[in-house]
Amino acid sequence: MNDQAEKLRLLANTLHKKIHSRVFDDMKGCQVLAVASGKGGVGKTNLALGLSLALAKAKYRVILWDADMGMANIDVMLGLIPQYNLHHVFKGERTLQEIMVKGPEGLWIIPGGSGIEELANVEPFLLNKVLQDVSLLDKKIDYLIIDTGAGISRQVVAVTLAATEVLLVTTPEPTALTDAYGLIKVLKGHLNGGIKLIINMVKNKDEGEAAALKLMRVSKQFLDLTVDFGGLVPYDNNIQNAVRNNQSYLLAYPRSPAALSTWRIASSLGRIELKNPSGMRGFIRQVVSFLKSKQS
Ligand SMILES: Nc1ncnc2c1ncn2[C@@H]1O[C@H](COP(=O)(O)OP(=O)(O)OP(=O)(O)O)[C@@H](O)[C@H]1O
Ligand SMILES: [Mg+2]
Repeated sequence: MNDQAEKLRLLANTLHKKIHSRVFDDMKGCQVLAVASGKGGVGKTNLALGLSLALAKAKYRVILWDADMGMANIDVMLGLIPQYNLHHVFKGERTLQEIMVKGPEGLWIIPGGSGIEELANVEPFLLNKVLQDVSLLDKKIDYLIIDTGAGISRQVVAVTLAATEVLLVTTPEPTALTDAYGLIKVLKGHLNGGIKLIINMVKNKDEGEAAALKLMRVSKQFLDLTVDFGGLVPYDNNIQNAVRNNQSYLLAYPRSPAALSTWRIASSLGRIELKNPSGMRGFIRQVVSFLKSKQS
């Protein structure tokens, strides 16, 4: 176990150095965000896709890496049928450039491949190679967003540690919060950036804030780790309705509560500026004027 922790520490350091060195020169200024969770089914994939689309809509160059190894499903969510996936890259049959597919809003997707046992056991050094390949792509990239699988498997921890920021997703349920805390514990001490906590499927603001506060407090108290508040996303049936139509809620229902919250979170990721949105109408006005300013 210690041996494995040491290996991960080394891997994390190598990736970190590469991202910030000449090897990954093209990724300088690129934010690598890992969307992770302790418990499964808390909404990572939907949020990773929603955030990626919000940023892509704002004219940032975004790559979304479906890194839920072996159980990838972003392509399915968008009704895309990629011919190749990461499995082909790992086998040396295709390059990363060849497997990437274009999604809506100019978003590039790295399809992960589903139902492939080898992918579930892929070695962390191969994941490192994906990051290296991303840095070698022609275009400059503003955001690499990584949708990970749930839990604390080696692959999940390896890609999560490569990130410049971890977006930790949980619901307010005690079991999800406990598992989120478990993941924080594993990541602690190896991270290269901060953790932002997103509470998804909240019934109301109070419930969401109470859950966030609880997790932030115990992390500080027992792990001496400051976890930042990333935002709340309400429980919203539009998410499921959109998935049923092979779409993301962000585009299918742009004014839904979940989409507006996602925009708010995207805006807090550093580069979209929304100053004191006053109510929903003010917020939409600001998003629209921001998008216009990016297009001109
Ligand atoms: N805010 C929300 N309101 C209502 N339903 C939601 C919300 N977010 C996600 N869901 C639903 O929860 C389910 C799980 O979502 P999703 O696949 O994004 O989770 P995940 O964390 O990626 O799961 P896994 O751990 O299996 O990868 C889906 O049916 C999705 O439609
Ligand atoms: Mg998922």
